[in-house]
Amino acid sequence: MARLAKCDVVSIEDLTTAEVERIFVLADGFAAALAKGEPLDLARGLIMATLFYEPSTRTRLSFESAMHRLGGSVISSADMHASSASKGESLADTVRVTSAYADLIVLRHPHDGAARVAAEYAPCPVLNAGDGSREHPTQTLCDLYTLRKKKGRLAGLTVAICGDLKYGRTVHSLIYALARFGANIVAVPNRGLNVPDYVLDRLAAERSYTFSMVGMDELKSLAGGLDALYLTPSAPHQMALFTGGLPLEKLPSEQVPAALDAFYVTRLQRERRGENEGDAGGPSGYIRFDAQALKSSRTHEAVVMHPLPRTDELAYELDSDPRAVYFEQAAAGVPVRMALIAWLIEKAACAGSIARIEQPAEPPIKFKSEPAPRCANPNCITRHEGAYLRPRFRLAPRVSRSVLPLRCDFCDRELGAGFVGHARSRRYYRFEESLYGYARQWIEEGSLVVFDSEKQAEEHGYEPYRRGPQREIMNGDEVARACETLAAQLIEDLPDLSGVAMVGIVSHGAILAVRLRELIEARTKVRLPCAAADVVSGADAIRPLDAPGEFEVEGRTIVMVDDVINSGWTVQRAMAALWKHGRPASVKLAVLIDRGHREVPIRPNYVGKNIPTARAERVQVRLSPPEADGARKHHDRVVIYSMVESLKEPAKEPG
Ligand code: NCD
Repeated sequence: MARLAKCDVVSIEDLTTAEVERIFVLADGFAAALAKGEPLDLARGLIMATLFYEPSTRTRLSFESAMHRLGGSVISSADMHASSASKGESLADTVRVTSAYADLIVLRHPHDGAARVAAEYAPCPVLNAGDGSREHPTQTLCDLYTLRKKKGRLAGLTVAICGDLKYGRTVHSLIYALARFGANIVAVPNRGLNVPDYVLDRLAAERSYTFSMVGMDELKSLAGGLDALYLTPSAPHQMALFTGGLPLEKLPSEQVPAALDAFYVTRLQRERRGENEGDAGGPSGYIRFDAQALKSSRTHEAVVMHPLPRTDELAYELDSDPRAVYFEQAAAGVPVRMALIAWLIEKAACAGSIARIEQPAEPPIKFKSEPAPRCANPNCITRHEGAYLRPRFRLAPRVSRSVLPLRCDFCDRELGAGFVGHARSRRYYRFEESLYGYARQWIEEGSLVVFDSEKQAEEHGYEPYRRGPQREIMNGDEVARACETLAAQLIEDLPDLSGVAMVGIVSHGAILAVRLRELIEARTKVRLPCAAADVVSGADAIRPLDAPGEFEVEGRTIVMVDDVINSGWTVQRAMAALWKHGRPASVKLAVLIDRGHREVPIRPNYVGKNIPTARAERVQVRLSPPEADGARKHHDRVVIYSMVESLKEPAKEPG
């Protein structure tokens, strides 16, 4: 029998309140034993593997120290770049292999949801030592343990959490835990770095916090001019959002925290910021916490916490203040992690006698039909380990009027599906609230399909729920003439074709690109390299259409080709896929049909035909594939039809 229970700690929510309490009791015992220098051998014969795909000092060393202190052994891959991961080994394979060498895996990984994947593939327990910006549950155990030691309790404490609340994973686990233990949270985010919606939604759904707006605009912060978000678990559980310019004193007295018990300061998570996020909010605009913040009567008793490492947000002058407890927090890492290992031993010893009570959760949705949705979070593990990992979603508890909210099982982020379809009838619908009941029924039947656009639905052969009469606006001859015009425009505009390549957007844009290339070749004798951009299948890939091999983007003039611009969404995604592939010198956009009411600012350089249309109308281009050249004229056509939806356009989401 395994000496450790297969109990994974991926989220702080994987531990019940009683389990956290038990871990703290064990930690107290270990702290006392360590102070006395008592030798321990509870974990003799056990091996812990630490797999760190990201840098770490405290977490890895305190885990390893904890195992050594318990008489166990450690094998470590502190730098996964020196492991087979650098040869392309998947996370699933790495943890399966490692579990043959160790009884326990401690994993740190840059991708959101990585710890969940490891826990599912490893037969031994997996402890999450931080996965992307999602969670860091064992840090939270150290935080709670220290806070309770200092304040004697958790319930009723008021904790201001400051800084990067968007990407700080320690903050997310801490928020779930403080809410559970009945503490008040004052969130003091740096500009643009608020607690993400998926965290607030989870808190609302699982901890029964409800959110209500308070009619005033801003709470100037307790620590100097920052916007604050105030959450309180007092009955009924409520969170109030203050945005505006009101000093603390002016808030209704029942909503003002009389005093703060702790500041939890975090550094700017620079390494997690998106490419387009610039440096807004930092480093110069980032909070700086110094002795001044502890001088007010409301903050006099507050302890200052930080998961460390610190950068500039915490002044060194605080270190000598007895209220600065961040080094104690880091030191607690050893007894707390010893306690966690001891708890896994305990769980294995009494397996069978104590059943773990699992929360009944909404089951994952089985998408039997294509296209399977993919997580919209680019840092989700499913976007990086796609070879074996199928994206998995559950219906999010939140109700929305305009999208079906699906929650990624790995990273917790929400995907709002704007269009839903029924696989058997092959009909699709713009989502609206009244379709909830149907969507649930289709989930049960396994016939729900979701689409992010009408185009995607149609590419997969789905028809709108009801469509009005269809009218042809271009026949085969007209399509052929428009292609000639486009090719002529291109040749005139690009006299030197040597550095030009074409990228057609799957599927009709790709057919069109091949056709334009033929026309250009017939006139100039230059055969342009051609690739297809597949943004519909979710692969976001640029695939060469000629001989297999590389398609060169770098430094070239790329002519991106699509059949019709409806909202501009597809072109935007194709552009993003292209940029991932390389930096072109310039990109020109050629479309057969441009509709003029684009939702994104994209303007085609070459247009076959302009067709202004209303939103409730669809233009559909049908082109015969290249191999059916002979039949081309009879099959090529552009039609327009009106969408007859079950209800009118959905109302906009409030706010
Ligand atoms: C944190 C982490 O890695 O998420 N550090 C830690 O584990 N003590 C916080 C951070 O890096 O800012």
